[in-house]
Amino acid sequence: MRLVLGIESSCDETAAAIIEDGCRIRANIIASQIETHRPFGGVVPELASREHLLKIVEVVAQACQKANISLTDIDGIAVTYGPGLVGALLVGICYAKSLAYVLKKPLVGINHLEGHIYSVVFDNPPVEYPALAMVVSGGHTSIYFSPEAEKYKLVAHTRDDAAGEAFDKVAKLLGLGYPGGPIIDRLARQGDAQAAPLVFTNPRMADGCFDFSFSGLKTAVLRYVQEHQIAPLTPDAPPTSEICDLAASFQTAVVRSLISSLRKTATTYQPKTLTLSGGVACNSALRSAIKELAGKLSIPVYYPSPILTTDNAAMIAAAGFPKLVRGERAGLDLTANTSIKLQNFDLPLASPDNKKVRYRLS
Ligand code: KG4
Ligand code: ZN
Repeated sequence: MRLVLGIESSCDETAAAIIEDGCRIRANIIASQIETHRPFGGVVPELASREHLLKIVEVVAQACQKANISLTDIDGIAVTYGPGLVGALLVGICYAKSLAYVLKKPLVGINHLEGHIYSVVFDNPPVEYPALAMVVSGGHTSIYFSPEAEKYKLVAHTRDDAAGEAFDKVAKLLGLGYPGGPIIDRLARQGDAQAAPLVFTNPRMADGCFDFSFSGLKTAVLRYVQEHQIAPLTPDAPPTSEICDLAASFQTAVVRSLISSLRKTATTYQPKTLTLSGGVACNSALRSAIKELAGKLSIPVYYPSPILTTDNAAMIAAAGFPKLVRGERAGLDLTANTSIKLQNFDLPLASPDNKKVRYRLS
């Protein structure tokens, strides 16, 4: 097992990649649908499926061309089978199954979230376990505890919006465009977070619960906009200082919440490595805050290069590699699972008098 073809179509990127030996990228092709969805300020599922259908064959062909191989040279295929949009997922799954059948190659289905966690393998030293993996994207905000590779326990998740979703919704409210995360990141650098204080309370979480909530923060931005009568930016207008201040204040609050939960989970689970992945892992403030936290904990933090933070197929092929090597196989009955969770072992919940958790593999 040397060359793995990865296929990803769970949301608004049609992607194919060829990976060698699990961690060397021979090709990483991503056809983004941002222009299709931009007028709507978010992903329109039916448009996403149709565009995947138009792009999938070409994207896989381009990946082979870039890697200078033919489809018959592939040793295995890894495809995202969830979570995601059902129509979008089915395009990638059907194409991967057809290729596996015709080429007689082994196939594995990959959880998109495990793919994001594997996106760190390309630009970093090997992860030392136990590890804590924070995945922050447009659809997910979670922290996973891994006592060893491919074992995951979900230890924190968002109770409402994902962090990336909150970035996108706040950007829409301020008339900043789509996707909002990179724009807010840029404007926040010119703003003063103290100049736009946001008032909100997080829902009370039980002791030992490290979950996130971003909907109160989003409402606080809305209230601030109403009280200060801030008009959304019109297209091509330069950003005002009050919008930059508000972007900085919102981003600071998101980063503070993510880091606070990561610090508490790290105290409890005592990881040897932190990883940060998903689209929001591109955020400059979040990257520097997590670096600072890792420094205080005296452990390394790994994140992917920017092109590998958002959805891509290299991470799917990387997650598929150890499974294919082990002989794991998906049948031709593989289908989409839109709401699949990532958790395959359990351990007792942390409690205030048992700060460090002992874990047991099932
Ligand atoms: O991982 P991803 O491509 O898609 C999902 O699996 O959801 O993440 C996309 C999300 C979007 O919400 C986008 O606004 C956010 O990542 N994002 C950012 C930044 N770059 C992308 N959020 C904050 N700061 C950024 N620099
Ligand atoms: Zn994703």
